[in-house]
Amino acid sequence: MSDARDETVDLTINGMAVTAPKGQLVIEAAEEHGVFIPRFCYHPRMQSVGMCRMCIVDIDGGRGATLQPACMIPVAPDMKVDTESEATKKAQDGVLEFLLINHPLDCPVCDKGGECPLQDNAYAYGPGESRFIEEKRHFEKPIPISDLVFLDRERCILCDRCTRFAKEVAGDPLISFVSRGSQTEVNTFPDDPFSSYFSGNTVQICPVGALTAKPFRFKARPWDLEKVESTCTVCAVGCRSTVEVSRNHVLRYQGIDIDPVNWGWLCDKGRFSFEAIDHDDRLEEPLVRKRDELIGASWSEAFAAAGDALSKAEPGAIGVLGGARLTNEAAYAWAKLAKGVLGTDNVDCQLGDGLPAETVVSLPPATIDEACARGGTVVVIAGDVKEELPVLFLRLRDAVVSGSVKVIELSPCDTSLTALAAASLRHRPGEAHAAMAALLGSDDGADAVRGGDLEAARTMLSGTITAIVGRPSIAESPATVVAAASALLDAHPATRFLVALRRGNVRGAIDMGLAPGLLPGRVGLDAGRDWYAAEWDKVPAARGLDATGILTAAAEGHLDVLVLLGADPLADFPDRDLAQRALAGARTVIAVDTYLNDSSRQADVVLAAAGYAEAAGTTTNIEGRISELAQKVTPPGTARADWMIAAELAYRLDADLGLESVEGIWHEIERLAPSHAGITSLVLRSFAAQDGVVAPIQPEVAAVADGTPVSINGALRADATEGRVTPSPVARAEAAAEAEEPHEAPELEDEPIESGPARPEPMTYTRPAPYEAPALDGYSLRLAATRRLYDAGTMLRHAPSMAALGAGSQLKVNPTDLERLGVPDGGRVKVSSARSSFITDAHADASLAKGIATMVVNQLEGPNPHELIDAALPVTDIRVETV
Ligand code: SF4
Ligand code: SF4
Ligand code: FES
Repeated sequence: MSDARDETVDLTINGMAVTAPKGQLVIEAAEEHGVFIPRFCYHPRMQSVGMCRMCIVDIDGGRGATLQPACMIPVAPDMKVDTESEATKKAQDGVLEFLLINHPLDCPVCDKGGECPLQDNAYAYGPGESRFIEEKRHFEKPIPISDLVFLDRERCILCDRCTRFAKEVAGDPLISFVSRGSQTEVNTFPDDPFSSYFSGNTVQICPVGALTAKPFRFKARPWDLEKVESTCTVCAVGCRSTVEVSRNHVLRYQGIDIDPVNWGWLCDKGRFSFEAIDHDDRLEEPLVRKRDELIGASWSEAFAAAGDALSKAEPGAIGVLGGARLTNEAAYAWAKLAKGVLGTDNVDCQLGDGLPAETVVSLPPATIDEACARGGTVVVIAGDVKEELPVLFLRLRDAVVSGSVKVIELSPCDTSLTALAAASLRHRPGEAHAAMAALLGSDDGADAVRGGDLEAARTMLSGTITAIVGRPSIAESPATVVAAASALLDAHPATRFLVALRRGNVRGAIDMGLAPGLLPGRVGLDAGRDWYAAEWDKVPAARGLDATGILTAAAEGHLDVLVLLGADPLADFPDRDLAQRALAGARTVIAVDTYLNDSSRQADVVLAAAGYAEAAGTTTNIEGRISELAQKVTPPGTARADWMIAAELAYRLDADLGLESVEGIWHEIERLAPSHAGITSLVLRSFAAQDGVVAPIQPEVAAVADGTPVSINGALRADATEGRVTPSPVARAEAAAEAEEPHEAPELEDEPIESGPARPEPMTYTRPAPYEAPALDGYSLRLAATRRLYDAGTMLRHAPSMAALGAGSQLKVNPTDLERLGVPDGGRVKVSSARSSFITDAHADASLAKGIATMVVNQLEGPNPHELIDAALPVTDIRVETV
């Protein structure tokens, strides 16, 4: 049976014969053939509604030409479309004249002025002057509709884009049309602000300046902004976005529509995180501890202090924590320094809150598209996807709503996916593997499922299966998720996995070897030893410690040097007590960071690093998709790129990393890292790879990624923020014309390893050891420690518009458990674990199964479960007593 999309129809547009896919809208077919039809309400990622009538053109479907909205009419055989007829022009004149009847014309003070479709269309298609002289309607200007968005109703042209986005795409129908006729306005509901994680997208897609973003208002005019294409690294989805800069200040990010990842959307945390870049707290110079105080120092003094400590330490007494903030190139440089120069394998870019690196690199992988569009069933065993990987949630939501996939969720508590899931199974923290066994049909595990329709879920588990796996709770060992994934793979060997790690470039850092037991290119330490030993000074003799092991060794006084590579274990490691003891127990702490945080304030040496948009390189998202990061501003003070810090430290240790440029580092990665073979700089910049390249590169991508440059500095698609999926020929030609020099690949000497060890193979999946959770005693509750998008992390604390958006943490318990414990809803209780205790309020939550308590980590207010977690234990059981 042929797919409707494979069928085509022939029609003419402005006399030109064209062929278009059956079902395609006239507005899309025209654009694909170089004919732009003006529009306001049409958006390629949303349902057409035909609200604005700006796209009216002459369409003759066989019964004579009539004016019809091109965004509502699909192409038909022998259709004749005329976008330049007299009737069309008259209609366009009329639509614009009517839209401007009430428009306030405050272009000189409007954020949108200069990039406003209403301005542009009025100039290009409008009548030139209006016949209307009556008083325009007035509204209070502007009103805040959330903490981040202002609404100026006078400017609104009622296009229904923001309202459709909120309802259709984000699933947050918090902004809507109010009143009727000439009094129709867009507004929020009384006492119900537009508090959506995705509100900034409405600002971007509003075709006028009716919606403006508090962090950007009045900061710059569009023509002052220099734009470059880059990738968001606030979380690991890797949304493509512009970085927009004026006078060396980053002032805005806008989403870019790429098919495989973000479809033009950004979450608000990613979109408005630019505020943190320029914060006064940014580290501008190195610091060295003197007389118990961190004092500004020269780079030479700081490198001498750091180099001295590292040179005196035995390899096994050095630990390196962090790295997910880094570019791939910087992560490689630090892996080479740690493993190839210092000789330590005590390296972990995760902070005890992810999954074992071996599991991450070896599970059969799925892309976001495969998870969302392959059809079949998506099994989710992860944290709340909306809170941790927001735009992945949008993609999954679309997949569910459009009927492409069914979701089975395994979770200790309700998440944002619960309402969308076809089946949502509840289990205790630490028992995901038992719930999976039940899902796979085992009667033994059936009582592990404490809520949800197990029978219905079982019937859905067939055909195409994709699993999204992460950490539902950091108060439990990752072993339960690993065991669940393994059981699913055993039962359904064709299952593909999308590993839902949260931190920006954590996947890239793992791929570059910043994990115990791994070398760059997803290669095990033993498998890659000979290969890397031929190139590096040394390779660690044995697998080193992970984050928990490193911090335990430090706490026990076995660590001479602890390097914090953009890491704040006091805030992020699940076990705060261990992190505290580790920082006190390590003889020297060296921090490489962009700000001082709670942990780096205790360091002996702090090296000031360049941050986002200040250093070029590449990043890798959850799919293993590698895309370029642009440098557009200079780092503050003397802060420098992380890879440069690694290279200089190596020099102080009488070693030479041999890494002198970002380009050169990528060349070495491509040459040595098996999973990255063939992904050259030229391939990364080629037109075929403009949406990034998933490693390992697929032959069909390699075949077309011939090095044809996309653009200079990726600027080509910076104009594609109106939702255009691919750059129009006009945009391409303009960008090419703007480029002064054609892009040239650097002349890099190829240095093949001509003879010697064979290139190792990337790691393959091995089954984990069996896992069993300890029994829960009758007096305790099992804790799930979950995460929220807005937290008290370093970045958000330095982004003024978002700093206070965290909702705070509460202890939540099933009402029956609260009653059994004799605690009234909201009553004061003492919470104790094997690690610690504190007093807080207990709140009833009927969505929780009995025996489960939840708290959110790292919030500005409320109890922090980090105080209760013992990283050595597989689960965290707590006692709750009235006080
Ligand atoms: Fe359209 Fe903007 Fe009005 Fe929303 S606020 S309906 S996006 S013009
Ligand atoms: Fe950035 Fe993640 Fe938000 Fe995308 S989902 S904009 S990558 S923080
Ligand atoms: Fe077609 Fe608005 S773009 S009616």
